[in-house]
Parts: sequence; structure tokens; C-alpha cells
Amino acid sequence: MSNKISVGVIGATGMVGQNYIRLLNDNPWFEVAYAAASPRSAGKRYREAVAGRWHMGTDLPSRVGGLVVEDAGNVHAALGKCSVIFSAVDMEKESVRKLEMEFAAKGFAVVSNNSAHRHTEDVPILIPEINHEHCDIVPAQQKHYGWSKGLIVVKPNCSIQSYMIPIHALMQKGFRVAKMIVTTLQGLSGAGYPGPSSLDMVDNIIPYIGGEEEKSENEPGKVFGKVTGGRIVPDGTLSISAHCTRVPVIDGHSACVSIQFAGARPSIDETKDAWRSYRSVPQELELPSAPRQPIIVRDEIDRPQPRKDRDAENGMAVVVGRLRPCKVFDYRFVGLSHNTVRGAAGGAILMAELLKVKGYIG
Ligand SMILES: NC(=O)c1ccc[n+]([C@@H]2O[C@H](COP(=O)([O-])OP(=O)(O)OC[C@H]3O[C@@H](n4cnc5c(N)ncnc54)[C@H](OP(=O)(O)O)[C@@H]3O)[C@@H](O)[C@H]2O)c1
Repeated sequence: MSNKISVGVIGATGMVGQNYIRLLNDNPWFEVAYAAASPRSAGKRYREAVAGRWHMGTDLPSRVGGLVVEDAGNVHAALGKCSVIFSAVDMEKESVRKLEMEFAAKGFAVVSNNSAHRHTEDVPILIPEINHEHCDIVPAQQKHYGWSKGLIVVKPNCSIQSYMIPIHALMQKGFRVAKMIVTTLQGLSGAGYPGPSSLDMVDNIIPYIGGEEEKSENEPGKVFGKVTGGRIVPDGTLSISAHCTRVPVIDGHSACVSIQFAGARPSIDETKDAWRSYRSVPQELELPSAPRQPIIVRDEIDRPQPRKDRDAENGMAVVVGRLRPCKVFDYRFVGLSHNTVRGAAGGAILMAELLKVKGYIG
């Protein structure tokens, strides 16, 4: 009998859900005991539900392949099977909000990739390296909603870690960024499956992703915010202007970033040193999914590139390069992170590992 914590994945058949199934297969603390998706998949064995659309580069884990997929909307079906729910359903926002609240009310720890709760003031948006202390809002959240052990924490938008983590590394050294212009070049898997058609994407770039610019501009304030009186008060000192585009790359979100500091600015070498030496709580705690080197600096003039760099540290590192002066702001650089790993399933598993160490799950 395994002593791992039993977890469930809702939206288990989608792009993010499949990454959960792949990554959790090797996780030393968690084990998938429950898989759910839409009523279209419910009742099938997982291997049948994903037949013809398993997109991972590794084989489907046989134990999960045999699980019967439940209807994600049926909270009762998960009772007694798991204590943690990784939420990767793609549904109308209000339905997701209600569903995740229902799971938490029934005692599940909900770790979500969906944006439905990102603006709920006592639900933290976690990037464990940056705002690990936001976990400690959980007791206030439980008191507010009358939950005994249920909780909700959410991941940010899949592209923001490629610039947030490098900015945080500079903040740790005392350099505060005041303004940022960011243009994202986001991979196709970020749109889920099947996503945009090949006729839309081959030989093309789509200069619009619905809702993405607002998320890229607003979520960082909450991540950098402070927990006060049972709510998270967003930081208002960083102004971001974002332009988000969809590009014909399968996995990997790149960000071309220009930054201006609030006061003193580091030299180019100090900036690279801050990135290379960056470590935070997930590394100190040696969480199983934590990248040993959270930021990898490439000195080649033409890196990072999605195909060559997205899998660094099992897809959990942010790879930066092209750091150089900017004629309008202080510096420019390119950041890259794997959208379905660090930006989705891997980042959320890291959040759950942090919650376990802090005693909120398990
Ligand atoms: N892709 C990324 O890089 C990324 C990154 C961060 C966050 N996210 C977020 O993660 C969530 C999932 O994204 P994805 O890319 O994995 O989408 P996806 O590939 O389209 O998968 C959607 C999943 O939701 C299920 N689903 C759809 N309608 C449902 C319903 N009415 N009831 C229950 N389940 C339903 C699907 O089940 P069936 O297979 O049965 O239809 C499938 O498992 C979205 O909220 C997305 O915004 C995605």
C-alpha cells in the first residue's frame, strides 16, 4: 500500500490534465487516484477517453489508463478517493468558480489552473518562489467560508512567470522594477486541444489572445501583494503594458521584455549574477518539483529558443537571454517558460508540494 497522498485531476483529458498525469506518475509525494473530465469522457477508462489525443512524449501510465473517468461536475464521485483536486477544466468561469468552491466545501484542497478564482481576494495566486507566504492566508480563507480543511489556491496565467521570476530575482537584490513593456509569443498548446487550426497558424501569427493582456498586466500585482486582514492587497507599484500573440510553436511561451527601474539600476553583470544566484523557498525546502536552478541565463545571442530551452530543468526553469540596454527604458531581455509545465501542471504540483510542507494538505 502506497503512503503517497491520493490526488484527483479534473479536466484530466485536456492539454494541462495530460501533463498532470505524466508528471504525477514520477512524483514521490502524490499519486493520481481520481480522474474526471466532461460528460463526453465520463464512464470511459482514461486510456479510451484520451485515445487518439494523448499528446505527451511519454507513454500513458498504465495504472491511470485503467481509471474510470468521472464527470468533473459530480463532486460526490471524488469523495473518499482523494484529498487534493488539481483543477484543469475548461468551462465557463462562473461554473468553475462554483465547482471549485463546492470541492473546497467538501474538504478538498483545490489547486487550480483556471482563472475563475484569480480575483477572489482571499484566494492566493501562487508562484512558490515569489509569494510562498501567501499560503498562510489559508486559515483565514477556511474561517471565512466555514471550511474545515478545504482550500483553494490558484496558478497565475501561463506566461507571466517568464518575466515575474526574473523581476523577483532583482527585487531580492534590492532593485525594484517600476515599468515594463512585454510582448508575449505564446505556443499553441496554451490554447488547449485542438486549439487553433493549422490553416490559422502555419505561416502566421495571431496578434490577439482573448483576455490574456489583462491577465498579464493585472495578475503580477496580486502575486507581489501583501496578506493583510485575511485578504491579499495587490501591489500597485509596477506598471505593465502587455501585447500577447499566438505563434506557431507547440510548447513554450516567450516574452520580449523592456524594464525600467524605480531607483538605482543594476549593471548588466549584476543582473545576470542576480539571475544565476537566484534561489528561494522551494529550492531551500528541496521540493520534489523545484528546479535546482530556477533561472538559467543563456549568453548566446540567439537564445532562449522554445525548441531548445523549454525543457530546461524538466520544464520548470525560466530561461533568459538577450539582456541588453534599452533606448527607451533601462534594459531589454527575452524570457521563456514551458506553458503546460511551469506555467500549468508542473507549477501547480510545486504549489501542492509547498502546501504539504506547510501542513495545509496531507
Ligand atoms: N494549456 C495551457 O498552457 C494552460 C496553461 C495555464 C492554464 N490553463 C488553463 O487550464 C484549463 C485547461 O486548459 P487546457 O489547455 O488543458 O484545455 P483543454 O485541452 O481544452 O482541456 C479541457 C479539459 O476540460 C474538460 N471539460 C471541458 N468542458 C467540460 C465540462 N463542461 N465539464 C467538465 N469538464 C469539461 C475537458 O474534458 P473532455 O476531454 O471530456 O472534453 C478537458 O479535460 C483552462 O482553464 C486553461 O485556461 C491552460
